[in-house]
Amino acid sequence: MHFTVEAQNRCRPFILESSIAIDATAGNGFDTLFLAQCVGRQGRVYAVDIQADAIARTESKVAQAGYSHNVECILADHALLGLHIPQEHYGKVSCAMFNLGYLPHSDKSVVTKPLSTIEALNAIEPMLARNAIVSILAYVGHQAGLDESLAVEDWITNRSDRYQIERLVDPENPSSPILWLLRNR
Ligand SMILES: C[S@@+](CC[C@H](N)C(=O)[O-])C[C@H]1O[C@@H](n2cnc3c(N)ncnc32)[C@H](O)[C@@H]1O
Repeated sequence: MHFTVEAQNRCRPFILESSIAIDATAGNGFDTLFLAQCVGRQGRVYAVDIQADAIARTESKVAQAGYSHNVECILADHALLGLHIPQEHYGKVSCAMFNLGYLPHSDKSVVTKPLSTIEALNAIEPMLARNAIVSILAYVGHQAGLDESLAVEDWITNRSDRYQIERLVDPENPSSPILWLLRNR
């Protein structure tokens, strides 16, 4: 299974045209562009990354595809997302994507961390529309990623009242990435 593609495929049906979407880890901008295409010309995407390089790559990707007008790229820690998303968009976010880990072909020491990931998930919660979807893709092949996935798992465990939860792994791969899909009830 190609997990990044699977995350997009699973999110697509729940992303409403003209709605708001959040890419909580912009990276190379693949998910940001996907979200921009789904929300369409009247929608808005907020793409956040802690690295200037990632923001530059994302801005360039959306510009090339002609989506700059409805994508806002934010250089920030996603733990502080609450400071960047306007109040008027609370309750209107139909999708938030977290592709955790590090920026490919870049400094591997800049990596998502349990505390800020959980803070970001908490920050996004009041922004979600009814039936919104949140995807979280975690890589457990290294200790930091494993610790982070355990923190996410723990956070999700207490939320089955709020979300319909799906957890996907590759059963053939003992260090398979984990993809969680949370549907806001
Ligand atoms: C696996 S990449 C994301 C890939 C991206 N979704 C794409 O489509 O290309 C993970 C990204 O998370 C970013 N990141 C790490 N810690 C972060 C934080 N606290 N807040 C926001 N972004 C962070 C990294 O800089 C990196 O670009």
